[in-house]
Amino acid sequence: MATGSRLDTCLAEAVAAEPGLKDTAAVIAAIAEAATDISEVIGRGALGGDLAATGAHNSDGDVQKALDVIAHERVTAALRTAPVAEVASEEAEGVMDLDPGAPLAVAIDPLDGSSNIGVNMAVGTIFGIRPVVREEGNPIASFTTPGRAQIAAGFVTYGPATALVLTLGHGTQVYVLDREARAFRLTHAALDVPEAAREYAINASNARHWDLPVKAFIEDCLRGAEGPRDKDFNMRWLGSLVADAQRVLMRGGVFLYPGDGRKGYAQGRLRLLYEAAPIAMLMEQAGAGATDGERRILDIAATGIHERVPLVFGSVEEVACVATYYDGRNHAAGRSPLFGQRGLMRS
Ligand code: F6P
Ligand code: MN
Repeated sequence: MATGSRLDTCLAEAVAAEPGLKDTAAVIAAIAEAATDISEVIGRGALGGDLAATGAHNSDGDVQKALDVIAHERVTAALRTAPVAEVASEEAEGVMDLDPGAPLAVAIDPLDGSSNIGVNMAVGTIFGIRPVVREEGNPIASFTTPGRAQIAAGFVTYGPATALVLTLGHGTQVYVLDREARAFRLTHAALDVPEAAREYAINASNARHWDLPVKAFIEDCLRGAEGPRDKDFNMRWLGSLVADAQRVLMRGGVFLYPGDGRKGYAQGRLRLLYEAAPIAMLMEQAGAGATDGERRILDIAATGIHERVPLVFGSVEEVACVATYYDGRNHAAGRSPLFGQRGLMRS
């Protein structure tokens, strides 16, 4: 497809090539429509009221902000118009049943990056589309297959521009919202993430709580050209998974949200179904990788819809390097000339 083409044209072309994608394309079109509305609300910022006003708590105990609720209501209303039987949303405790005869199930984080609401920073919407699995007595059956069962996945970033990053299993594309036309237009037909990188993303305020392999990996990045990595690194942490993921997709790098020692954080912070699995599919389709440190994210099956998973994604050399710290192949761990004998970040 030529850059500048509208999303609906690209979806129609994908369906013409693969008619089995018809329902999936309808779901993506519905989400894109909802995202256009959400983008307008976010674009008005505080002129539209206090989007960060707090209310109840969501499934994970996070306090819900006004925009979380607006986004959840808008996306679920859109999904009701599409061939969707079940929705697992971050903002709803259990699976939501929509059209019982429909073929698809959608896992969705309606508003990712909540801590950036109200401060004019990028936030987003993340989704993964799967075939429905009907199993007597198991209401979450559709969501317990591994992430590789996803037919399509994507996220929208509401940043300086609103962008849709999408895969239907044939590469990863980027579309940017043309606000006047209220249409997403193709800007990148096939992302290709550089294999090597010099940029990492992690919330370093949790350093003292990290798993040992992560402490050693980051410490060796910090040692730069003087350490075993033999190169200097830069760091970026936006605090919105979508925005960090888009940066990694566009220019490479590695992102980590590992398990850590804080109460409730043994599996990190990010959710398998509507954060890690969609992003893993987008990464792999763009030539990058996504693991929980060692295991491929797309091979992991959830046992609950809000289950967390440690997440490492990005340039394949860096993701593979992180794995060497987990499986003991990297023996640099334990020595730290930078921080003294034991190392500042070792325990
Ligand atoms: O959805 C969870 C999330 O807001 C992600 O968008 C983001 O990457 C992460 O949490 C930020 O976590 P922390 O608050 O630890 O920096
Ligand atoms: Mn999120």
